[in-house]
Amino acid sequence: MAKLLITGGAGFIGTHTSLVLLEAGYDLIILDSFINSSPIALKRVSQISGLNSTELARRLKTYTGDIRDLDFLENIFKTCGQEGNPIDAVIHFAGLKSVDESVKNPLLYWDVNLNGTKTLLTAMEKNNCRTIVFSSSATIYGKAQSIPIQETAKIQPINPYGKTKAAIENILSDLTGINPNWRIACLRYFNPVGAHPTGLIGENPLGTPNNLFPVINQVAINKLKVLKIFGGDWPTPDKTAMRDYIHIMDLAEGHLAALNYLQNSTPELITLNLGSGKGYSVLEVVSEYQKVCRKKLPFEVVNRRQGDSAISIADPSKALTKLGWQTKRTLNEMVRDGWNWQVKNPKGYLEEERK
Ligand SMILES: NC(=O)c1ccc[n+]([C@@H]2O[C@H](COP(=O)([O-])OP(=O)(O)OC[C@H]3O[C@@H](n4cnc5c(N)ncnc54)[C@H](O)[C@@H]3O)[C@@H](O)[C@H]2O)c1
Repeated sequence: MAKLLITGGAGFIGTHTSLVLLEAGYDLIILDSFINSSPIALKRVSQISGLNSTELARRLKTYTGDIRDLDFLENIFKTCGQEGNPIDAVIHFAGLKSVDESVKNPLLYWDVNLNGTKTLLTAMEKNNCRTIVFSSSATIYGKAQSIPIQETAKIQPINPYGKTKAAIENILSDLTGINPNWRIACLRYFNPVGAHPTGLIGENPLGTPNNLFPVINQVAINKLKVLKIFGGDWPTPDKTAMRDYIHIMDLAEGHLAALNYLQNSTPELITLNLGSGKGYSVLEVVSEYQKVCRKKLPFEVVNRRQGDSAISIADPSKALTKLGWQTKRTLNEMVRDGWNWQVKNPKGYLEEERK
C-alpha cells in the first residue's frame, strides 16, 4: 500500500484524516512540530485505529520537526527511500491558521505557511515525489460576490492568512508548468467542526479559541461567561452571519477521496471546495447546541468584526462530480460530536499530557 507523508498530522484536521487514511490501509509518516498540537493526539489516533503494536510500528511513524527545515525533510525522504519504501504522496496540513494572529504577525505567517510549503515542495522535487493534497481555505474568496461560492469565484483574500494560502495555490500552479507530472489537489475547506464520534480526538485550541464551535463549548462549560455574536444586522433571515459547517469526519473522507482521485487519473492540478453546500446562522448553531447540551447558553450581540461577511456557503458540486464525495453528516451530528469531545476532554489533551 502507498506510503504517505502527513505534515501537521497531529493537528485537528490531520488527526482525523490520518485515522481515515490508516483505516483505508495507507502507511503513514506523520511530521509535526507540535507548535499547536499534542503527541497525545497521535496516541489516541493509534488507539481508535485498533491496530496492534507491531502493525502500528510498521504503519505509523512520527517525526518531530519543522517544515521550514530542508535537511530534516530530506532526511525523512531519504530514510524512507533507503528502506525501499519511498513516499508516494504528501498531505500537507502543517501551517498556522489564525486570522487574527496573521494580522498581528504577518511575517510569521508568510514564513511558516509560504516558506514552509516552498521548502516542502523543494524536498518533494528532489526526491521525485510529485503528488500533494494541500489544505487551502475558503478564506481566499474574501467577501464573495455570489452565493454559493464556486471554485471559479474571484480570489481576493482580505487578511495575511488568506493571502498566504492564495500564494501557495499560485506556487502549486506554477509547478505544473515546469513538470507536468505533478498531481495536485488544492482543497478549499469551509468551516470544519465536530470531532470523531468516540470523543477521543477533536479540536484542541491551545490559545483563546476564535472559531464558533470551540467558543460555544467553552461557554457551555462556563470557562467563558458569554458568547459574543459579531453582528446582529446582517442581511440574513435571523440577522446573524451564516456559514457552511462541515463535519470533520466528512472533511477527512474528502482527503481520502482526493488522494484516490489523484492516484488514479492522469497528472493534473485540481481545485475543489470542501463544504456541505448548506449554511447555518450563528443563532441556529446556538439553538442546536442548547438542545444537545441541554442548557441555556448566554450570548450577546456585539458589533461586526472587520473583514467578516454575511454569508459564506460552498458550491460543493465539483467535488461530487470529480471525486464522488459529498458531506453526509448533519448539523446535529457536528454539535453532538463536538460536545461529546468537550465533555470527555474538558482540558483537551492536557490531563493526559500531565500523567
Ligand atoms: N481548521 C480550520 O478551520 C481550517 C480551515 C481552512 C483551512 N485550514 C488549514 O488546514 C490545515 C490544518 O488545520 P488544523 O485546523 O488542523 O490546524 P492545527 O493547528 O490543528 O494543525 C496544524 C498542525 O501543523 C503543525 N505545525 C504548524 N506549523 C508547523 C511547522 N512549521 N512545521 C511542522 N508542523 C507545524 C501544528 O503543530 C499542528 O499540529 C492548516 O494549514 C490550516 O490553515 C484549516
